[in-house]
Amino acid sequence: MPRSYDTLRSARWFAPDDFRSFGHRSRVMQMGYAPTDWVGKPIIAIVNTWSDANQCHSHFKQRVEDVKRGIFQAGGFPLELPAISLSESMVKPTTMLYRNFLAMETEELLRSHPVDGAVLMGGCDKTTPGLTMGALSMGLPFIYLPAGPMLRGNWRGQVLGSGSDAFKYWDQRRAGQLSDQAWQEMEAGIARSHGTCMTMGTAATMMGIAEAVGFTLPGASSIPAADANHVRMSAECGRRIVEMVWDDLTPASMLTRANFENGIACAMAMGCSTNAIVHLIAMSRRAGHPVTLDDFDAASRRVPVVANIRPSGDTYLMEDFFYAGGLPAMLERIRGHLKTEARTVNGRTLGQNIEGAEVFNDDVIRPLANPIYAEGALAVLRGNLAPDGVVIKPSACAPHLLQHTGRALVFDDYPALKKAVDDPELDVTGDDILVLRNAGPRGAGMPEWGMLPIPTKLLKQGVKDMLRLSDARMSGTSYGGCLLHCSPEAAIGGPLALVRTGDRITVDVPARTIHLEVSDDELARRKAAWTPPPARYERGYGWMFGRHILQANEGCDFDFLETGFGRPVPEPDI
Ligand code: FES
Ligand code: MG
Repeated sequence: MPRSYDTLRSARWFAPDDFRSFGHRSRVMQMGYAPTDWVGKPIIAIVNTWSDANQCHSHFKQRVEDVKRGIFQAGGFPLELPAISLSESMVKPTTMLYRNFLAMETEELLRSHPVDGAVLMGGCDKTTPGLTMGALSMGLPFIYLPAGPMLRGNWRGQVLGSGSDAFKYWDQRRAGQLSDQAWQEMEAGIARSHGTCMTMGTAATMMGIAEAVGFTLPGASSIPAADANHVRMSAECGRRIVEMVWDDLTPASMLTRANFENGIACAMAMGCSTNAIVHLIAMSRRAGHPVTLDDFDAASRRVPVVANIRPSGDTYLMEDFFYAGGLPAMLERIRGHLKTEARTVNGRTLGQNIEGAEVFNDDVIRPLANPIYAEGALAVLRGNLAPDGVVIKPSACAPHLLQHTGRALVFDDYPALKKAVDDPELDVTGDDILVLRNAGPRGAGMPEWGMLPIPTKLLKQGVKDMLRLSDARMSGTSYGGCLLHCSPEAAIGGPLALVRTGDRITVDVPARTIHLEVSDDELARRKAAWTPPPARYERGYGWMFGRHILQANEGCDFDFLETGFGRPVPEPDI
């Protein structure tokens, strides 16, 4: 039974015959709308992360008109509300500093305006978690509109993949193997349409997770940004959100822990970015259905990587994934690992949405019997060096490093590391473990520094991989024996702060352990002598960030934004 107009939130602004409502109504008419456009209709916010600085969302200027069309068709009234766009490539020092900013902005945009539901337009890495975290906290019905991946890159007839190929060809360029001409051609060919990175980086990972959790229309996350299907999907988001408002399909009524468990299983099958862990934990906590590092580790032992998309796979990109059947087809393949009863924004269950979805290319979306990796999309290690966990992508790590003891070579900050790696005299071997600290959430906003560069001296000796440990994150398009998200981080006095160059560290991925071979007594002595690094920011947003950011294993949300912090925020007085 659909709800009646007077139960809508926006009716509080528009329905009463009083002085304030007179103001609200006259101001809508100021924009050129007649009462027939809006009277008695749900008002839908479109939270749009378009900006001239975000190449991945450049089509949102047009797509928002398609969303509006759909909203009008279904008898709703759209209000476009712009939000910070968080371009992964342009925003410094790291978009991670601003994910929670977008979450706060989304929550408060929805709270302060006369809206009944929302379409969230995002895709570039942090926008998926930022938008959905805010909307989950506000609690209105919402639907997520993923930007979709850009087309495959092209250079002289060769396919280029975002991030991964840039890393690869940059090494060739440094080695003098690539001409200026070729390099410039690559600049013009690696990103040749609107849309997000088209490797299985953080953007594709998070858009896929959003679909598996139930926040998008079926199939939406795989549609290339430049495909006409994307235009039609956008209009359908507009139509569907109006129905969701009438049906009062709020996140609280729709979501259970099963939705987030599906997100984890999907992430594993996709061969996800390690960033998925931090974001999905934060999203699940906002929804009141927290998942933990252990859920990721357990799923990784169970769910094979079946999406043959770079960088986990060796050939294909997101455009190929779409042609092969896209996410519904991949989810149908891993149906046995899903909680199919979980509900989604189209009002149906995930199981119903993927029923019968076909794979059209078994090399792109592999059968369970022929996966890319039988297990090991992610592993979580613990020990005296990381009581709250450290994360590694075993499938991306050289096998001989999965059980390894080595000497630590410690750097206190990124500039020191950067300077050292090109030093031909650096005292380092391929058996050592590079350690970077003070790069965690509090220390530096948790930038993507975790794929520490292999020292040039070792590259010349032919060393292709070595263990690298940090409290930073790494890009979803990165690879190698990188131990990431070490928690608690060094800047708050985690054990990582106590490691010294020359200490020995033992890593055992099959046993899920990491151990600093230093006695407890000695560690206690070092801890007593430890002083925290000076705060990076002494005013402004960064100052607030430093005081309220949670650790990586907790999702890096702000403590005061988490569900259960204080009483629920009241609706505004009008
Ligand atoms: Fe936007 Fe990679 S830069 S998704
Ligand atoms: Mg990225």
